[in-house]
Amino acid sequence: MSISFSGDEEHIVTSTTILPEDSNEGSLRPRTLNEYIGQSKAKDNLSVFIKAAKMRSEPLDHVLLHGPPGLGKTTLAGIISNEMGVNMRITSGPAIEKPGDLAALLTNLQENDILFVDEIHRLNRSVEEILYPAMEDYAIDIIIGKGPSANSIRLDLPKFTLIGATTRSGQLTAPLRDRFGVTLRLELYDPDELTQIVERSAGILGIEIDREGAKEIACRSRGTPRIANRLLRRVRDFAQVTAGGKIDKKVADEALTRLEVDKQGLDSLDKRMLRSIIEFYEGGPVGLDTLAATINEEAVTLEDVYEPYLLQQGFLTRTTRGRCVTKKAYDHLGIEYLGQQQIDM
Ligand code: ADE
Repeated sequence: MSISFSGDEEHIVTSTTILPEDSNEGSLRPRTLNEYIGQSKAKDNLSVFIKAAKMRSEPLDHVLLHGPPGLGKTTLAGIISNEMGVNMRITSGPAIEKPGDLAALLTNLQENDILFVDEIHRLNRSVEEILYPAMEDYAIDIIIGKGPSANSIRLDLPKFTLIGATTRSGQLTAPLRDRFGVTLRLELYDPDELTQIVERSAGILGIEIDREGAKEIACRSRGTPRIANRLLRRVRDFAQVTAGGKIDKKVADEALTRLEVDKQGLDSLDKRMLRSIIEFYEGGPVGLDTLAATINEEAVTLEDVYEPYLLQQGFLTRTTRGRCVTKKAYDHLGIEYLGQQQIDM
């Protein structure tokens, strides 16, 4: 699995990219569907597909998991492999550079194994083409030789399940998307689910926390377990140094305020984004690329990491003409709202 590091120290605690401190995220990962909290729609369907495949003694159909980062796509893949009782090989789109890299991975799989490809939208075209017959017929076509004397031979593969994960399913090509028999969309978690996740993680890590403390962290975690678990560890640091180790609402609130995570879970970049739309574009609409240039961030980061939560919380809307902030955003930032901008049609 590729591990990327956010370059921006300013809003690091609420970043959804995997940070060095998340390296022990694994110990908090649920191993079974029963332990996995939330995503009930995806989980219920998956449970049926897993049972049916096991009854038929067949590999599970290929699965595409998509949704914002940090919601548990890798965790779910691990659960599928555990529930199916098979091995999982983990790789990522950018790590597979050449068709030969993928051929080596595929030919080393055992019958019914899972190949997990994170960021599958970043596979290059020549690699992707190897996947089509592999997914459909459990075979790869290898070209031997060059020019007019080149020959193609077909190599059979063990039956396997491909699990692809992506934050950008819109960027998958149609032929690849169509070859997944199961597509599951992961949604941002609600505060109740995140409260349960924080309590479960605190139990595993031996952290003393009450329900209100867990709720406070949950409500400020942008609907994302990875952030909830990270904030839990940071709040534990404050609790240890300032409050004898126990996390309650007051300790959590003080710690999160010091970490610049506000009551609604917004960090400094969220606020910079909303404020820029108000100050420079009269509340919008403004195109994503223009906005990204204005605040000196990458458009994909804004779209994949920041927008989902701002849209879900109703601070931002997306129109065909660009992004607009809502009255709720003005109120939250303490800026006077003078009504919707007149848009010429
Ligand atoms: N830790 C991270 N994500 C989780 C989830 N969905 N359920 C339980 N624990 C988790």
